[in-house]
Amino acid sequence: MSSVIPHNARVLSGMRPTGQLHLGHYHGVLKNWVKLQHEYACYFFVADWHALTTHYESSGIIAQSVWDMVIDWLAAGVNPGTAKLFIQSRVPEHAELHLLLSMVTPLGWLERVPTYKDQQEKLKEKDLATYGFLGYPLLQSADILIYKAQGVPVGEDQVAHVELTREVARRFNHLYGREPDFEDKAEAAIKKMGKKAAKLYRDARKRYQEQGDAEALDVGRALLEEQQNLTIGDRERLFGYLEGSGRIILPEPQAMLTPASKMIGLDGQKMSKSYNNTIALREAPEQVTQKLRTMPTDPARVRRTDPGTPEKCPVWLLHQVYSDDGVRAWVQQGCTSAGIGCLDCKQPIVDAVLAELEPIRERAEQYVTNPSLVRSIVEEGCDAARSVARETLQEVRTAMGLSYK
Ligand code: TRP
Ligand code: SF4
Repeated sequence: MSSVIPHNARVLSGMRPTGQLHLGHYHGVLKNWVKLQHEYACYFFVADWHALTTHYESSGIIAQSVWDMVIDWLAAGVNPGTAKLFIQSRVPEHAELHLLLSMVTPLGWLERVPTYKDQQEKLKEKDLATYGFLGYPLLQSADILIYKAQGVPVGEDQVAHVELTREVARRFNHLYGREPDFEDKAEAAIKKMGKKAAKLYRDARKRYQEQGDAEALDVGRALLEEQQNLTIGDRERLFGYLEGSGRIILPEPQAMLTPASKMIGLDGQKMSKSYNNTIALREAPEQVTQKLRTMPTDPARVRRTDPGTPEKCPVWLLHQVYSDDGVRAWVQQGCTSAGIGCLDCKQPIVDAVLAELEPIRERAEQYVTNPSLVRSIVEEGCDAARSVARETLQEVRTAMGLSYK
């Protein structure tokens, strides 16, 4: 069931450190993160273990990319005063939860995740018939569940991983959220909410369970979020009681689909390191200009006097991202009548890309020249992440019967 993600809810996303970030990442992911950080409690992390699943033979690239990637995030406008930035392997609690979840996850669920076969096909030169690679989406589930994240901003290709996470959470709650005296405990917890809230809760529960009213479910959940005097355990009970299940120890997250970016590479294909068609976020202006000036155009336009067809030209696709209607009309007119040359046509794009990258490069500068600032931002993020992660893990251990005294 999909419902609205409340303002200030915890939102988590990660990125694999496997090379330089470019304008494709900026338009696709980073601008979205910058927007989300104003609306939610955002946790953004460097998924270095995930990078290792595919780069175990060339792990050097990971170490090289980790800090540069964090600098690129900061340069793009991710604000460490608002969002927590951290590194997955510095919060080893992720690994313990991954292990515990692996006990209850059927092998078939992992084998059936589409990216498993797809990526093995696509990265034929690598041997991905490993235990770690099969577990990739489950490690991702642990990343998400350990923060009880309600929203997970991801691209289309990652939605199946969030879906798996929901199934794993449901199975976990089903197995470990059942207590013999669940109903009594839930009823006792309702009484702790106070008369008015208790009545609202009971109404919402009844409306949801008897009429399947999804709005009532949202109302009930929002009500529980607001309660100050409930213990974590009671809150989990009441979330579950609301829906008619047992205690909800690991809440199911929702994918927040990142709108597909229109940014394309220098050859008109998707911008991607493997196509060698990128403009890096901190690339020098001379090089950016050079790359754009030499980028291919409509192949039919051999001489300046030949008219062209913008629809057959990758530069036209960049005008969709960077130009307004006026400029686009000028391109259409000038190109089809051979009134303008291709360098003239590219100039507004050169200007726009340089203007876009300038503040990014400037912001990066203060971090490049002060590595200890970056280290301390990440250190702080790791501490914040760890304290949430530890709390969840303690509940998970207890629910599974592992907190022997
Ligand atoms: N698999 C994601 C990707 O390749 C990265 C990732 C790892 C992630 N753990 C995550 C994204 C948790 C969101 C939440 O893009
Ligand atoms: Fe492409 Fe512009 Fe040249 Fe036309 S004028 S071919 S749109 S670069």
